[in-house]
Formats: sequence, structure tokens, C-alpha cells
Amino acid sequence: TQSKLQLVHAHIRAFPDFPKKGILFRDICPILKDPAALKAVIDLFEEHVRKNYCHVDLIVGLDARGFLFGPLLAQRLGVGFVLVRKKGKLPGATVSVAYDLEYGKAEAEIQEDAVIPGQKVLLIDDLLATGGTLFAAYELMKKQQAEVLGSLVVVELKELNGIDKLRPLSVFSLVQY
Ligand code: PRP
Ligand code: HPA
Repeated sequence: TQSKLQLVHAHIRAFPDFPKKGILFRDICPILKDPAALKAVIDLFEEHVRKNYCHVDLIVGLDARGFLFGPLLAQRLGVGFVLVRKKGKLPGATVSVAYDLEYGKAEAEIQEDAVIPGQKVLLIDDLLATGGTLFAAYELMKKQQAEVLGSLVVVELKELNGIDKLRPLSVFSLVQY
């Protein structure tokens, strides 16, 4: 586990003043470029899920970088994957929630029939900053009457206190800054 965490850590870069002045942007692209690092991420998530949850129905991924890790984990677990998208991208009947970002505003949306009431779901994204995005997805899941077991992120930016905003939702992260 320790060497897998080190591998993940070694494949995250920081860019100052992106996308706005004052933001230190943590870039996970090198993880995706390295098969061993990407496998380490999915291994660690899988291990956490198997240890902590006896049954999961769906992995729910957040637009856009939650889509990079979510389907891989869902396949490992043998469960389905559902997309929470930025507004206007999904066809058919949808449910949406507005939210604030570290560097802007957005609206999250899900297809109305994506989750059946009572299904046990885990949320997944690349990174937790202010928690606005995960909070919006959590709200959407409550509207869908899903049972949200917890959430998974590769990176947690601790000084933004996203964890506090999300309580009682539990957040499992691999790397913290
Ligand atoms: C980033 C990141 C998370 C979110 C975290 O995505 O991938 O989804 O912000 O910030 P928060 O905790 O303050 O909500 P972004 O909205 O930039 O969109 P993208 O994935 O489409 O690039
Ligand atoms: N990296 C990637 N996504 C983000 C960040 C970051 O540092 N902050 C908010 N969303």
C-alpha cells in the first residue's frame, strides 16, 4: 500500500496561478500517462471499498475527471457507472443542482432514471477542493433517494476544508496537500 501511495504521489504535478492567479493547480494527468500509477490508484480505491462496504450498486463519477477513474473502479468491482455532468450535456429527463467552485460557478446534472431509489452508491472524483462539486452530487443523489455510502478522491486540498462542508458524507483520499 505504501509504495502504491508513493507512486500516485510522484505522478501529481503542481502549476501555480492556473486557471487563475493565486490557485496552485494539482494536475493528475501524469497518473493517466503511467499505467502503473493508474493501476495503483484503482487498486487502492478497490481495496478501500472492499474493506469498508459489503455491498455497492453503483459508482457515480463527477464531470470531467471523475470519468477517468470511475469506470475503471466500477469494472473492478463488477458494478455500473453513472455520470454526473455539467448542465446541458445529458439527454432526456434530468435533475440538476447549482454549486460554487474554487474558481467559478457551475450546475451539475444527472439523468432522472440513472439511480433507482435505495441503491447504494459511491461518489468519485479526481480532487476535493472546496467540496462544492461533491456537495452538488451528494444533493443530486439525495433527490434520487440513493443511499450514498461515501466518496473517493485521488487528491484532497486540506486547507479548503471541503471535508467540513460535506459532513456527514465520508471522503476517502489517497493524497493530501
Ligand atoms: C475540478 C475538480 C473537481 C472540482 C473540485 O473540476 O476536477 O471536480 O473542480 O473543486 P471543488 O471541491 O471546489 O468543487 P472542474 O470543475 O474544474 O471541472 P473539469 O473536471 O471539467 O475540469
Ligand atoms: N487541481 C485540479 N482541479 C481543481 C483544483 C486543483 O488544484 N482546484 C480545484 N479544482
